[in-house]
Amino acid sequence: MTRNPLLSTEQLEYFGAGDTVYSLAAESAEALSLSCTHQGCIVHQTVEVQTEGGYQCPCHGAMYGADGTVVRGPAQANLSRFRVLQRQGDRVQLAAIDAEVVTTKPLEADYYVFAADIPGIQHLFSLAEGEVPAPLVRQVSQLTVADPFAVVRFWFDRDFDWEQSNFTSLSGYRLTDSITLYHRIQQDYIDWAERTGGSVVELHAYCYKEKEFPTQQALLTTFEQELYEIVPSLQQATMLHRELVNQKNFAGFPPGSHSDRPVTASLASNLMFAGDWVKMPFPCGLMERAISSGLLAANTILQQEGLQRRPLLSVNPQGVLNI
Ligand code: FES
Repeated sequence: MTRNPLLSTEQLEYFGAGDTVYSLAAESAEALSLSCTHQGCIVHQTVEVQTEGGYQCPCHGAMYGADGTVVRGPAQANLSRFRVLQRQGDRVQLAAIDAEVVTTKPLEADYYVFAADIPGIQHLFSLAEGEVPAPLVRQVSQLTVADPFAVVRFWFDRDFDWEQSNFTSLSGYRLTDSITLYHRIQQDYIDWAERTGGSVVELHAYCYKEKEFPTQQALLTTFEQELYEIVPSLQQATMLHRELVNQKNFAGFPPGSHSDRPVTASLASNLMFAGDWVKMPFPCGLMERAISSGLLAANTILQQEGLQRRPLLSVNPQGVLNI
């Protein structure tokens, strides 16, 4: 876990981002997971007397004491506690306090596909022993994670007029970049809307600036304000429910980073890579890249075993934008 400078104070440090955040008090050997045990929103510190500097959830109001004990529902379970195994500068390694002790056993296989996310692959390489080719070590160490994304879905007790497409890209808002009307496009939501007369709306913020929205409270407040700007009639509606997904784990592709990324086949014949960070032989987005690189890794194994490879459909790998 990497220290989050936007949230940390002298008394309380925070590690991680998006929906994976831990707090660590100064001089403490124990960290708390801030994922609410109700539905996973990230709780934030509160000054309320009831919790003596504990935590409050922005989603449905659960409260926890400073040690993570539930003080008020809907959460039923305490926040999870973690032991600090080691700290190196801005990074800590944590282990769940109640987790069984895992004994390391060699894992022997004919082929290995490393399909971890970027922090995971970098951690695996930091543990590697023996000779690892220097170019590969360099390529893995320079992988970067993109700005976080947030997606919020709202349930309302009424429908509204909407003349644009049911998925519409938006610009000019601080946070929101698209709106989707789920109660018009997905069957279970259509059924729910027919039964109740309600609506289900989703807003996206892909790659927002963490500095401007360092907490989930800030994300939720801004999403809500912007939704009421986009659909003013919803101000008169009753919001029945809302859910937030907020993560910081997309691979980053800064300009110039394509040429020197790891490809699916590594220099070792039985080690392959898969994930949204792998360099691909055809243009593809993050989710397509994660899936396609896994299929390419499988094809590499099939080929080495003398078996038929699976066809992989893609856009034309050659063209004006891909020289
Ligand atoms: S109260 Fe925290 S997610 Fe519901």
